[in-house]
Amino acid sequence: MVVKLFFYLLGLNLYVSMKKLLINILSKTGYRISRKSKLNFSVGDFQYEQITPFADYAPWLQDKEFTQIYSRIKDYTLVDIYRCYELWEMVEAIHVINPTVCFLEVGVWKGGTSGIIGRKLALLNSTNNFYLADTFSGVVKATEKDTFYKGGEHADTAMETAEGIIKSVYKNYKILKGIFPNDTATIINKDERFGFCHIDVDVYQSAKDIVDWIWDKLIVGGVIVFDDYGFHTCTGVTRYVNEQKGKSDRAVIHNLNGHAIIFKLR
Ligand SMILES: C[S@@+](CC[C@H](N)C(=O)[O-])C[C@H]1O[C@@H](n2cnc3c(N)ncnc32)[C@H](O)[C@@H]1O
Repeated sequence: MVVKLFFYLLGLNLYVSMKKLLINILSKTGYRISRKSKLNFSVGDFQYEQITPFADYAPWLQDKEFTQIYSRIKDYTLVDIYRCYELWEMVEAIHVINPTVCFLEVGVWKGGTSGIIGRKLALLNSTNNFYLADTFSGVVKATEKDTFYKGGEHADTAMETAEGIIKSVYKNYKILKGIFPNDTATIINKDERFGFCHIDVDVYQSAKDIVDWIWDKLIVGGVIVFDDYGFHTCTGVTRYVNEQKGKSDRAVIHNLNGHAIIFKLR
C-alpha cells in the first residue's frame, strides 16, 4: 500500500514537473498552452462561446494606482480586472469631458467596483457626488425575461461592507440603500446632472428602470456601462441593451470583455 502510494506520488510529481517545464519552454518561444474553448451553445435565441481575444496590450500592469486599488478591492468584487480597468479609464474620460458631473453605480454588492470608481475620482481631485445604490439584500425585479436570475441573489453583503471600501477612497459619496430608482431616487437632488452610470443589476427590468430614470439627467457624451451584457447568465440585460440599438440618440457598443456601453449622442 505504502509502496503503491509512493510510486503514485512520484508519478504525479514527475507529471507536474514535466508540465511546468513544457509550459516554460513554450512560453519562452512565444507559444502558450490554453484549454480548448468550450463548444458554442445557446440560451433561448442567444448564441454563446468562450471569448478569448488575441490582444495583449495590458496597461494596467504599469498603472501603480490601479494595481493598488485593485488588489485592495479584488475580494470585494465579482468583476474581473479587465472590466475594472475599463471603468477606471472611463471615469477619467468623462471627467475630462465635463468635470462637474455626478457619478452613479447601481449594483454595489460588497463595494469593489465602487472602490475603483471612487479612487479614480479622488485622484482626479473631483468633489462631485458619487451615488452608490443597492438593496444590500440581493437582486430584485427578476422576470421571465431573465433565464437564470430568480431574485434574492447576491444578498451576501451589507451596507457597512461596501461603505468600508468607499469611505477609505473618496469623500463625496452617498449610499442609497433600497431598490433603485423606486425607493431611493428621490434622495438625489433633481438638478443633478450625470456623466457616468455603472449598471450591474443582473436583470432586464432593473436595468430598464435605471436607464429610464437617468436618461434625461445624463449629459450628451455621458456613458452608461452595463456590466452583465456579455454573460449567458444575464440574458435579460443582453436583451434590454440590444433593444437600444438603432435609436438615434445613443450609440451601443459591445466590448468583448463582457461590457456593453451606451454613449448619449443627443
Ligand atoms: C452582481 S452584484 C454587483 C456587483 C458589484 N458591482 C461588484 O463590484 O462585484 C448585483 C447587485 O445589484 C443589486 N441590485 C439589483 N437590482 C437592484 C435595484 N433595482 N436597486 C438596487 N440594487 C439592485 C443587488 O442587491 C446586488 O448587490
